[in-house]
Amino acid sequence: MTFRSCVAGIGHYLPKNCVKNTDLPAHLNTSDEWIRDRTGITQRYTANDEETTAYMAANAAKQALAKAGVSAAEVDAIVLATTTPDNGFPATATRVQALIGASNAFAFDVQAVCSGFVYALSVADNFIKAGQAKTVLLIGAESMSRIVDWNDRGTCVLFGDGAAALVLRATELDKELSSGIQSANTNSTKLRDADKRGVLSTHLYSDGCGYDLLYIDHTIETPNKRGGVIMNGREIFKSAVKKIGEAVEKALAANKLTVADIDWFVPHQANERIITGVIDHFHLPTEKVVITVDKHANTSAASIPLALYEAVTDGRIKQGQLVLIEAMGGGLTWASAIIRW
Ligand code: ACO
Repeated sequence: MTFRSCVAGIGHYLPKNCVKNTDLPAHLNTSDEWIRDRTGITQRYTANDEETTAYMAANAAKQALAKAGVSAAEVDAIVLATTTPDNGFPATATRVQALIGASNAFAFDVQAVCSGFVYALSVADNFIKAGQAKTVLLIGAESMSRIVDWNDRGTCVLFGDGAAALVLRATELDKELSSGIQSANTNSTKLRDADKRGVLSTHLYSDGCGYDLLYIDHTIETPNKRGGVIMNGREIFKSAVKKIGEAVEKALAANKLTVADIDWFVPHQANERIITGVIDHFHLPTEKVVITVDKHANTSAASIPLALYEAVTDGRIKQGQLVLIEAMGGGLTWASAIIRW
């Protein structure tokens, strides 16, 4: 039997506290103009003490399950992408499991920093394709405000908190349809496209030689007392467009698609200038690009699902459309995926 992972529902959670650029503490000696010009960010959400990574993830998960019409008891696996777990161990996903009552699931975290959501999608998709899980809760959740150095204006202004979750369900493809899918690569019809819903491909990459470009320094004092972000912004910037470009090309080639076939491009929301670099490289029409970095800042593993949530909820992304996602982050790690929504 052949299974494909279809998106059945999506949910999100943003913290109650919204911090505009103009609200940032005076000691940072920054300005709304500097942040907007260099990053496109105008505000970010920061979690309060109650809003732990698990709390935000659980709220997003409950909303996604409700949208999908799926009960917590039906969830076979919880795969949570985060670089800000509530504890070194156990996995934050297990706390989410308890909070939502998904007592039949197994649960674990995936750590690939800003690429985490695409990595977790790949893991979830492979469980479904292997027949090991029928319903997977896929979550990206971060409390970046707890791991930034609030004395370093070069990093703390870039990040935000939040969570979003997708319910992925196994769809069984019978033999006839499977052969139809192969031929549909060259001869697609609307009906076939709708039948082909689901995760079409994921591509994951890493290069540990970039380890020192973005990491946690445990000597830096931060709200969670577990060290703060150190980043070589210029070097990250230089690598980003190139590596993301390569991952996007692989995704398109693997599916025999061109940029023109893509309905929505939903990039990791790190920085508007990186996104613009990728858009220009591929000559992507801006009206096909979902941008939320202005409102959410960089929410690391939560950024893509938060952007997906926004575009699904406001009616831009519709069932059956092709959605291309990509990310790059610490490690270095980078990744791409194509989903027929
Ligand atoms: N407000 C005001 N001035 C600032 C701020 C700030 N928030 N931050 C830095 N500056 C100052 C610096 O102190 C420096 O001043 P100086 O010239 O007097 O020494 C000046 O601005 C230039 O600093 P740079 O760090 O060289 O600024 P740059 O032009 O490289 O922009 C930025 C910094 C926005 C971080 C850029 O390098 C970038 O976008 N990099 C990509 C990194 C990224 O997006 N990381 C996210 C995580 S990885 C990912 O998700 C892909």
